[in-house]
This record gives sequence, structure tokens and C-alpha cells, in this order.
Amino acid sequence: MILREVIAHAEQRAQLSSQKHGELQYVVAASRGWSRSDLLIRLDLPADADIQVFVEHAAQQLADGYPAEYLTGYAAFCDIVVRVREGVLVPRPETESLVQMAGDFIIEQDRPRAIALDLCSGSGAVALALAARLPQVAVVGLELDPISVSCSRESALDVGLSERVRFVQGNVLAAWGLALADFSSRTDVIVSNPPYVREQRLFPAYASSPIEPVRALYGGTSGMVFYKRIIAQACDWLRPGGLLLLEIDDGLEQGILNLFERYGLQGGRWSPDLRGLPRYAEARRAE
Ligand SMILES: C[S@@+](CC[C@H](N)C(=O)[O-])C[C@H]1O[C@@H](n2cnc3c(N)ncnc32)[C@H](O)[C@@H]1O
Repeated sequence: MILREVIAHAEQRAQLSSQKHGELQYVVAASRGWSRSDLLIRLDLPADADIQVFVEHAAQQLADGYPAEYLTGYAAFCDIVVRVREGVLVPRPETESLVQMAGDFIIEQDRPRAIALDLCSGSGAVALALAARLPQVAVVGLELDPISVSCSRESALDVGLSERVRFVQGNVLAAWGLALADFSSRTDVIVSNPPYVREQRLFPAYASSPIEPVRALYGGTSGMVFYKRIIAQACDWLRPGGLLLLEIDDGLEQGILNLFERYGLQGGRWSPDLRGLPRYAEARRAE
């Protein structure tokens, strides 16, 4: 059988939704190190037994809800690629805007040697992409999950950024200052995409990606647990004029602006994602 037929049969047997058909081809190509044009050529060549077994298994995993990135072990984010595996949230396209906004702030404010803190750093995508964009910036990522911390450290080595980007294991909801005790300097930017899915929205979020860790999504009954903690401590960690930048869920924006005000942050505002929904919130420490 040629590869195209092997893939089509596997998709059928696993009852893979048509939406995921392209994903199986992508997984096969990525796992073999093939480019798109390699794949196009090989689709019409006979497939050996090894690849047939691989395709069957991969189709079943995709049908069971495994993200394609868990099968390849990598996720593309901004201009870099980071490692991901089961237990680590696959970074989402909308999160790339945090890197853009944090980078723009550092450039506009002329702080080329800025220090940034990425709270709930997960795969390390935000921290690493920011450091990749700005060659003198140093970033510290703080993350609770040990698998995510290992992955992010491996990615830092892969992309040659381990000198400027460090990942620390620690709990943002506890005294996170302790986890960062040897990181004495204040920061120019705090960026965070914390768990923010509220109870009401947890089931749909889980159903759309059942294998990814719920711990990475759930932000408490109201979705605000992490924001309260982060915003309450932000002024202690930011340099004068420093930026706090958050990814948020729609419907939480007013509560977050209120918290900015309560904890003395200035210029609080939210901005929308490409669908027009409130997705980012930012404020600054007074000069
Ligand atoms: C929405 S994910 C974001 C991951 C990454 N920053 C990104 O944008 O792809 C939230 C992350 O927070 C981590 N997390 C959950 N509870 C935490 C806690 N108490 N302290 C630190 N990190 C936590 C999760 O493990 C997960 O990696």
C-alpha cells in the first residue's frame, strides 16, 4: 500500500474527524523529519511495515484527543520551537501576543537589558520567545509542574538561551518570593498566562482537549485565583514604571482592572484578541 492509502485507512479505522486529517499527515512528516515536499513525494510511495504501525497508533492517539504536538514532541511558538509532552500545556497562538507586547514595551522604554519574570511559565514558550526576540533581555520563569519545568529547561538548551533564561520550580499561589530568593533584582516586566478557566467553562475546555492537564487551565470558581495573587504582589517585584502583562479570559476584565486599582497599579487597560474578545490586560507600577 502507498502511504496515502495507509493514512486514509488509519483515519477511517480511528474515526478521526475530518478536522484532524491534516494533523495525521503533519505528525507522520514531523516524526520522520520530512519537509512538506518530502511528504508530498512519499505519499505516493509504498509504506513499510514500521510506518504502517506508527500511522495506526498515531491516528488512534489523535482520535483519543492527544494534541498533535504531544505526538511530535514539539510546538511552534513565535519564531521558536519548544518541547512539549504529556503534562505540559501546548502554547496557544493567542499567547504569542504577550511576547509582542512585552517586547514592544522593552523597546519603547529603551530598557535593552531588561529583566522579565514569566509566572506560570509552562513549556517556557513565552520566556524563551521573548529572550529570542531581544538579545540582551534576561528572563526567569516560575512554574509549579516539574515536567513543564524540565521541558522548558531542555528547550532553553535547544535554542541556545539557557544563559539568559532560567526556569525555577515554585508555587505562584504560595510565597513565590522564596522560590526566587536568589533572584534579587526587581523586574522591568512581569508577564503571565496563568490558569484562568472558571468553573462554569471548565467542562467545555476539558472536552476540547481532554489529555492536557486541567491544572494548567483551572483558575478557581471565578477564574480569578491566580490574578488576585499575582496582582497583589506585582508592585513588590516591578521596578518603577515596570509593566504587568496578563493573558485573561473574557468576562474577567473588569475584575482585573479593579484589582489593578486596588493594588496601586496605574494605567490599567485590557485589549482584545483576533476574535474581538478581551484577552490581555496590562498596568504599570508608578514611576
Ligand atoms: C495556562 S498555562 C500557561 C503556560 C504557558 N505560560 C503558556 O502560555 O503556554 C498555566 C500554567 O500554570 C501552571 N501552574 C498551575 N498552578 C500553578 C501554581 N500554583 N504555581 C505556578 N504555576 C502553576 C500550570 O502547570 C501551567 O503550566
